[in-house]
Formats: sequence, structure tokens, C-alpha cells
Amino acid sequence: MSSRLAQAVTRVAYGARQLPRVAWYVGHSLVLRELADTVPQSEKSKARRRVHTDAPVPDRKHIYADMAKLFLQDLANVEAGIYPLPAEHDGSLLTLIRRSRIFFDDLPNVHRRREARAHGEVLNEITRGTRPRYYLQNFHYQSGGWLTEKSAELYDTQVEILFNGSANAIRRQALPQLHEVFAGRDQRKLKVIDIGCGTGRFIDALKQVWPKLPVLGIDMSEAYLRHAKRYLRHRSRVNLSVAKAESLPAANESQDALISIFLFHELPPKVRRVVLRECARVLKPGGRLVLVDSLQRGDRPDYDGLLELFPHSYHEPYYLSYLDEDFAALAAKYGLVHVRDVNAFISKVMVFDKRL
Ligand SMILES: C[S@@+](CC[C@H](N)C(=O)[O-])C[C@H]1O[C@@H](n2cnc3c(N)ncnc32)[C@H](O)[C@@H]1O
Repeated sequence: MSSRLAQAVTRVAYGARQLPRVAWYVGHSLVLRELADTVPQSEKSKARRRVHTDAPVPDRKHIYADMAKLFLQDLANVEAGIYPLPAEHDGSLLTLIRRSRIFFDDLPNVHRRREARAHGEVLNEITRGTRPRYYLQNFHYQSGGWLTEKSAELYDTQVEILFNGSANAIRRQALPQLHEVFAGRDQRKLKVIDIGCGTGRFIDALKQVWPKLPVLGIDMSEAYLRHAKRYLRHRSRVNLSVAKAESLPAANESQDALISIFLFHELPPKVRRVVLRECARVLKPGGRLVLVDSLQRGDRPDYDGLLELFPHSYHEPYYLSYLDEDFAALAAKYGLVHVRDVNAFISKVMVFDKRL
């Protein structure tokens, strides 16, 4: 096949996989917006919806244009041979419809919590003391917090709707940063931990590039790990373990790379520090830490207002402090050198190497 034909085939195949996904999740967010206008709201809630910011808030067109840039970057990474054409493994149409139904069925519960600012349902006699207090909250007002099968079942649908179908593409922007340090090395001899791996979506992306790479996924949620185990059942050399990011189950200087996606904005400032110190402990000298998380204030001034407004609708108790956290300075305290930040739509990839 000529190289131009091969390029055309790749582009068509990429579009054929990503466009229906985006349409599916954008469709969900449009329905959500319609529903939000029809649901009765208390005066308090109406006032909250009118929360004002002086910072710029991008309109839909602006957001979609930036999302398109993310997908073009994703495709460029494929064309550069950094990773293969992504397989999304979303399940059959029936599975998607079933998840969509569960998502919409659960909306009244989320709405009730948002109205009442109720985020403490998961803290009860059974859970108290089993995990740190900050963890036992209904983040995003979601049912079951991080603790239940239902929450794990709903999670990926919720995240993809929030990101209009771009969550996996955002996660994949961590791969070039790993490619840079893994290139030319024997993948079977490398060690990687995904910290707060959730339902295992990023581990799946990792395995599409390096199928023989030994990966440990840790998370404090047993339910999410059970879900990840099922999702990754066809993958070899994957271990999943219930553990805290604050005390990783790994020896000093044993890991070649660590990755953590959408976790740090959910940690209290003090815990962020503990986790970064822990990352520095387990990384080999020269090892790489890749964090993927929300943009911070000032990364894209045109998004600052959107970032400020986000925690008013979703229970994100540590998000505002995250927006102004100086990760480069913080990491430096623990011997992690800031290599670069790369923006990825409304998220960014932060890269650190442990000092040699
Ligand atoms: C927003 S989700 C991100 C999941 C996944 N990384 C992704 O790409 O979607 C946060 C995850 O971190 C886990 N988590 C939160 N705090 C944690 C901690 N201190 N230690 C381990 N896992 C934690 C939660 O259980 C949840 O699965």
C-alpha cells in the first residue's frame, strides 16, 4: 500500500471509531441540558446556577474547536507511530444503551444531592474508619461515592459525557510521555504503576501499546477494581490491588514509571504532598511520573471562568485549591524535576523525572 493510501485508511478508520463516540456522548450532554431546564429547582439552586465569574468562559463553539484539536493530536500520535489506532472497547450497542439507561435513571438521585448539597451519604457506620475521611464523600454528587458496584458501572459513562466523548483521548496524551522514556527498552523488564486506576481505562490504552509491560493498578475502591478486573480480563501481566496512593505497595526505587489520571484534583492539598513524596520514593532515579488532570488557572486564560464554575455544579471539595497548586515547585521538594506540561483540551499532562 502506498504511504498516502495508508494514511488515508488510518484517518478514515480513526474517524469511524471516534466520531460516533463523540456524537453519542455529545448527544447525552445535549439531553442533559434540556432536562436541566425542565427540572424544578429551588431558589437556592437557581442562585447557584447564576454564580458569576469575571474570568472568561468559553462558549460551546470554542470548546468543540479545542476538542477537535485534541483529536487531531491523538491522530497525529497514531500517524507518528507512538501508539496504534486506538480500540475503545466500549462494549456492544446494547451495553452502551444499558449504561445510558442506568445513567438517566440515576439522574434524579444526583439532582437531589446537588440541590441539597448532600455529599456525605457514603460516610456511615459501615464505612467510617475503613478509608481516609476525605475519600468518603459523594464526589460529583455521584451515587455510592467511589464505593459501590453501581458507581463503578456508571463512572465511565459519566466521565465521557462530561468530556463529550474525549476522556479516553485525553488519557492517551500520557502515552507519548511514556514512549519517550520506554523507546528502545525491553517492555517486559519495566515496571509501571497506575495510581487511582479506577475502572482500568488507561491500563487498557497502555496495553494496546505495550502488551507485555507489567502494570500494577492501585485504587482504594474495591468495586472499581472489580470492574477493572473484568474489563482487563484479556490482558496479561496486569495486577490490580486495593491500596492507598499515600502508601504505594512497592519497594523504594523500584518503578520505571508512575501514572495518575484525574486523581490529584480530588486529593486534599496535604495528601497531594504525601502522594508526591511517595511517588518520589518508589521511582527509580531517572524514572518518570506522568499526571493527567484538569487545566489549572492561567494554563488557558480563556478557560479560567469555566474552571472556576466547575466545582459549583459538581462536588469537588479540593478543586479550587488544585487550580492554584504549584506542582513544579512541590515536586522539586521531593527530587522530582518538572520536565514539561502539555495541554490536552480541558486537561493537561504534567511530566516529572526523578533526579538521577
Ligand atoms: C476520578 S477517578 C479517576 C480514575 C481513573 N484514573 C480514570 O482515568 O478515570 C479517581 C479514582 O481515584 C481513586 N482514589 C481516590 N483517592 C485515592 C487514594 N488516596 N488512593 C488510591 N485511590 C484513590 C478513586 O477510588 C477513583 O477510582
